[in-house]
Amino acid sequence: MSKPSRYLVTSALPYANGPLHIGHVAGAYLPADIYVRYLKGKNEDVVFVCGSDEHGAAITIKALKEKTTPQEIVDEFHKINKKAFADFGINFDIYHRTSAKIHHETAQGFFKNLFEGGKFIEETSEQFYDAAHDQFLADRYIMGTCPKCEYDSAYGDQCEKCGSALSPTELINPKSTLTGNTPELKTTKHWYFPLNDYEPWLKEWILEQHKDWKTNVSGQCKSWLDAGLQPRAMTRDLDWGVQVPIKGADGKVLYVWLDAPIGYISATKQWAIENNKNWEDYWKKPDTKLVHFIGKDNIVFHCIIFPSLLKANSETYILPDNVPANEFLNLEGGKISTSRNHAIWLNEFVADFPGKQDVLRYVLCSIAPETKDSEFTWADYQARNNNELVAIYGNFVNRCVVLTQKYYKGEIPEITAFDERELKVLEDVKVAKQKIEKSIERYRFREAQNEMMNVARIGNKYLADIEPWKLIKTNPEEVKEIMACANVIVANLAALSSPFLPQTSLKLTDAFGLTLTWEDAGSEELYKKLKTIKPLELLFTKVEDETVIEQVEKLKKPEETSHMPQKESIAFDDFTKLDIRVGEIISAEKVKKTKKLLEIKVNTGLDVRTVVSGIAEHYKPEDIIGQKVTLLLNLEPRKIKGIESQGMILMAEDNENLQFVQPSEDAVAGSLIG
Ligand code: 2FM
Ligand code: ZN
Repeated sequence: MSKPSRYLVTSALPYANGPLHIGHVAGAYLPADIYVRYLKGKNEDVVFVCGSDEHGAAITIKALKEKTTPQEIVDEFHKINKKAFADFGINFDIYHRTSAKIHHETAQGFFKNLFEGGKFIEETSEQFYDAAHDQFLADRYIMGTCPKCEYDSAYGDQCEKCGSALSPTELINPKSTLTGNTPELKTTKHWYFPLNDYEPWLKEWILEQHKDWKTNVSGQCKSWLDAGLQPRAMTRDLDWGVQVPIKGADGKVLYVWLDAPIGYISATKQWAIENNKNWEDYWKKPDTKLVHFIGKDNIVFHCIIFPSLLKANSETYILPDNVPANEFLNLEGGKISTSRNHAIWLNEFVADFPGKQDVLRYVLCSIAPETKDSEFTWADYQARNNNELVAIYGNFVNRCVVLTQKYYKGEIPEITAFDERELKVLEDVKVAKQKIEKSIERYRFREAQNEMMNVARIGNKYLADIEPWKLIKTNPEEVKEIMACANVIVANLAALSSPFLPQTSLKLTDAFGLTLTWEDAGSEELYKKLKTIKPLELLFTKVEDETVIEQVEKLKKPEETSHMPQKESIAFDDFTKLDIRVGEIISAEKVKKTKKLLEIKVNTGLDVRTVVSGIAEHYKPEDIIGQKVTLLLNLEPRKIKGIESQGMILMAEDNENLQFVQPSEDAVAGSLIG
């Protein structure tokens, strides 16, 4: 688009059912904040909206687990997350909530507009129902095996392992997460949005008109479009959410993925009320540039579903100009996992490392998963802090401040004009600024931040090459010009690091006693503004080895593993029906054309029998020969991939790990367990 008149920037509304971790930050919040700070530095008209996503089954499940109400959960985490963002320096113009009245009204109005425009298909279908709770089960309430990748803890709406979007009836061996029971099918009525009708338009709009989107985003869109879109229910049987605003829809709420993105609109409305603005300028004027920052698991909702809904609405909404989604951030060799507490929580970081927000911002931006998954380690955090922030940025600024204090008591020498050598250095800085702008505008924040760091490198090299501390004895006049130039580089750095390192940038501008904007960077006239620089404490300090060890240890603490509620009680007699014995693995081999299955022969004490087990991704066949196992002997035999499996080897499982439930080494095959 030609130069926009205004910007509307959104970050995914996080579910208010848990604290935020660094994966969230690196994915959807830090890049957006950098982008917005940059635009505001250029004096653009920008509104940056976010807030809590307070509906959806994930929240009701948590309330159920914790024997509390969804309202209490969202109240608690809205507060925690809002504060964590503010403390960390993510500067939303508004951090709203989807439980707000204005949001319910906006979402209902949006739904009504589509309903009255005849955009939905009304359909009665069979859906899973948990009789014990007298409740239809939302997709998230059902878990089972993913039909695409065989992951056995996939949710009814999405497999978190392979990312496939699912519908609950596709799951193999579905279970209700309320009770652990197999749910039954029962009829219910819902309003479906025929996404398939929008397929030709989406193909044109995304694949032809938005060739500038990141390849990870357009690639995911393309595979959705190639697979063919299906109508999607926009309502749910649930008692927590935005009520469906039409007759005959009692007990039904809006689908959370319809409700949540409308949260961007209602947040803008609320912000407009509070700031005397017109929200419609930001949502309906075609010269507004709308950018959604999200993680990769949200791509389909922001690139396919929400744009189609906006297009279907008879009010003419603008569509996103870009959706620069990031991939996932891993942590110390594993996936970040909320349920296993394998995470660095934003609120904990802010409390444990006061004043170090910029360090984490710097590291997360350096390793942001912009094109593929990436990994955070504490050793890397230490290295980037010590070798880059301390040794390059901090060192340059410190040298400049100390020398200006020592030679001129903080008065920056006045000069009439710079010589060629200084002009060349300042030209290099100007070129760096242009590169940063280009990179930010292409959503390449890693590249942009590295270029910002190059300005500090330029400054360091300038001082190291000239060595003013030697020259001061022989040519003090020349040193005046050098120190004026060095201070100009520091001032440039202050302006150019403001989107990336806002606290640090503020410390520098305070030291100059100035407000410097983005536009001051690269300006020939900047040196005329600079008068004094106050003494400064060290901007960055070394991270010691003990901190790294301590933080890595913290990640190893015992974790909560179970994500399924306790199943219903069973009678003792039922338990005694189970014939569980110690077994020993005699041989094992992979089942052909499968990823997960091993054909295992087990000595049961009674016989040697074949068991097919889904552990091939975790264990090599040759490594488990001789392994003592716990075997359920009298499970009805069943054929798996043509092989009769006569029992089940019991395994302990959390999201990623699978371990044998292992009898002690000297237990004898055939011993009864129970
Ligand atoms: O994935 C999530 O955490 C969702 N709560 C994101 C919603 S983004 C938008 F649609 F509000
Ligand atoms: Zn899967």
